[in-house]
Amino acid sequence: MSDNIKRIIVSNSNQLAEKGAEMFCEIAKKSISDRGRFVVAVSGGSTPRAMHGRLSQDPYISDAFWQNTHIFWVDERMVDFAHPDSNFGTARKDLLGKIPIPVNHIYPMPVMIPPKEGAERYQMTLKTFFQSIGQDDPVFDLILLGIGTDGHTASLFPEQAFTYSNQSWVISVKGGHPNVFRLTLTYVVLNRARHILFLVSGKDKALIVKSLFEDNTVDLPAKNIRPLRGTLTWLLDQEAASQLF
Ligand code: 6PG
Repeated sequence: MSDNIKRIIVSNSNQLAEKGAEMFCEIAKKSISDRGRFVVAVSGGSTPRAMHGRLSQDPYISDAFWQNTHIFWVDERMVDFAHPDSNFGTARKDLLGKIPIPVNHIYPMPVMIPPKEGAERYQMTLKTFFQSIGQDDPVFDLILLGIGTDGHTASLFPEQAFTYSNQSWVISVKGGHPNVFRLTLTYVVLNRARHILFLVSGKDKALIVKSLFEDNTVDLPAKNIRPLRGTLTWLLDQEAASQLF
């Protein structure tokens, strides 16, 4: 494992939520002290929910860092925010409705327009935001990712050959479970982050975790996460790490 890649194994999913929240908070504070703001992109799925729950309790909820935090999405299913499959809708219940974050610091992906238009519009949202802070490139302070049992990450699925240019920060795809249109950030954006944190929990992830770390012959989307200059941390619980050598 190279110097900028770290693996942390904790005993169970509660510890994973706890450690994830602790790292989130540490990176937030450091980003604010270095640059005056914390810019994070969160993923969907079930794993981050416990961490979101933890972040919306003390000591995190009463911390001042939320005032300077900006939350974007790594990917989104193109369903109404009230739908149970909506990543934004779920985060609103678990986290956003509880934390003291200014409402104009929350940037959901647009879902009620045609997928291609949604991707273009979110790319414009990113451009406008990053330009406003003097960055031509989208460099997030933290990107939170998960993996599927098939090795997908964000909404970048193994069965799909993605053809997009280096100028494409957001694309629309159809696939996954649920099999709906989705918007997702591309590797172009993901790999530019200062920190990337994978949260992986449960024994159904053990085999894919093993092939990610120990099988050089497989080509999986999660393997394409290689930070250009930042750091990458794999936070795994014991069950997810149980097949590792
Ligand atoms: C999504 C995702 C996706 C997710 C993984 C892991 O919206 O589907 O962002 O990439 O992170 O599928 O999901 P679980 O945490 O539910 O296992």
